[in-house]
Amino acid sequence: MPVVRSAYDPKDMQFRHLGPTGLKVSVLSLGGWLTYGSTQKGEVVKKCMETAWNHGINTFDTAEAYASGESEVEMGRALKELDWPRDEYVLTTKIFFGTGRKEPNTRGLSRKHIVEGLKSSLQRLQQPYVDVVFAHRPDYATPMREIVEGFTQVIRNLNLAYYWGTSEWSATQIMEATQIAERYNLIAPVVEQPQYNAFTRERFEVEYAPLYDQFKYGTTTWSPLASGLLTGKYNNGIPEGSRFAHHGDFFENTIKSLQTEEGKAKIEKVKKLTAIAERLGSNTASLALAWTLKNPNVSTVILGASKVEQIEDNVKALKLIEKLTPDVMEEIEKILDNKPAPPNKFGRER
Ligand SMILES: NC(=O)c1ccc[n+]([C@@H]2O[C@H](COP(=O)([O-])OP(=O)(O)OC[C@H]3O[C@@H](n4cnc5c(N)ncnc54)[C@H](OP(=O)(O)O)[C@@H]3O)[C@@H](O)[C@H]2O)c1
Repeated sequence: MPVVRSAYDPKDMQFRHLGPTGLKVSVLSLGGWLTYGSTQKGEVVKKCMETAWNHGINTFDTAEAYASGESEVEMGRALKELDWPRDEYVLTTKIFFGTGRKEPNTRGLSRKHIVEGLKSSLQRLQQPYVDVVFAHRPDYATPMREIVEGFTQVIRNLNLAYYWGTSEWSATQIMEATQIAERYNLIAPVVEQPQYNAFTRERFEVEYAPLYDQFKYGTTTWSPLASGLLTGKYNNGIPEGSRFAHHGDFFENTIKSLQTEEGKAKIEKVKKLTAIAERLGSNTASLALAWTLKNPNVSTVILGASKVEQIEDNVKALKLIEKLTPDVMEEIEKILDNKPAPPNKFGRER
């Protein structure tokens, strides 16, 4: 029996630093929103996580709110059974929405809920700490100094996390938190968890640009396939057993929008992306994932997967990155026709 146990093999995985930190995350990671603890429970959760791991994915994401805490329970149980050395994987969770209870202090970013919410998350996960804890949304009702103090406390005093991040905060809010941290010797956030995919670009590419420049701010990006739209699976309606079928109420507006001119135009774009993907010997999902990975400001793209086969499919994106040459990227840009305009720098670009 060797003194140091190891279970991890990086295979062909690529890694990036999580923003300005020394932490390395696999460029593809795996999350549990709307899947683990929700439509998927038990063995399939473990199989999905194990498949990801077997392809070199070392980073996993969940949240207190996912399936009212059940996502953390399922992913935590899988981690326990898989029994990987704790220093060989990166685990992240998010605090803000609570788990659906009515008592007002069981959500938000008060110091009380940051501390107690994270402790409860860790209990569900059966873990002593997470690597990164995210503020799942900004809290307009709590002073920013209290929020930064709360996250500093869970990291510095309680050892419940190593880093903290933001999710869907404005660039201004992130700057405010960073400045407060500097002024009062507190710990600043290092990473944002925003939506980023071929159909949702503005905030990631334009609003956050100063954060990448000034702080090397990291990103763990979500819904890279726009919940599946960018696989082509919704080109001809809603397939049985799919996310839009299972979660019809939540996606009501998205589903309705697919019937509008704008929605139909999106589907047409997906079909054109499929043609490029096939020409490159790949498929639409891989193309959409590889396209997000071409952006160097992405630290890791969080995959969602209800089935093992989807993970097997999606890791193929890694091989496609190098085939996305400047010419191909330009071709994709023309199809998407949604590149956000950069800010006017009045001739003072660096
Ligand atoms: N911070 C936030 O506010 C926030 C918000 C959302 C998500 N997230 C994080 O980001 C993660 C990923 O987001 P997401 O799940 O929305 O990602 P996504 O990649 O846009 O959607 C994943 C879903 O697409 C379908 N899919 C995936 N690969 C496929 C393939 N190869 N072929 C066909 N269908 C495929 C599956 O749905 P079905 O099989 O069920 O149809 C899967 O669950 C989440 O798990 C969560 O950790 C964070």
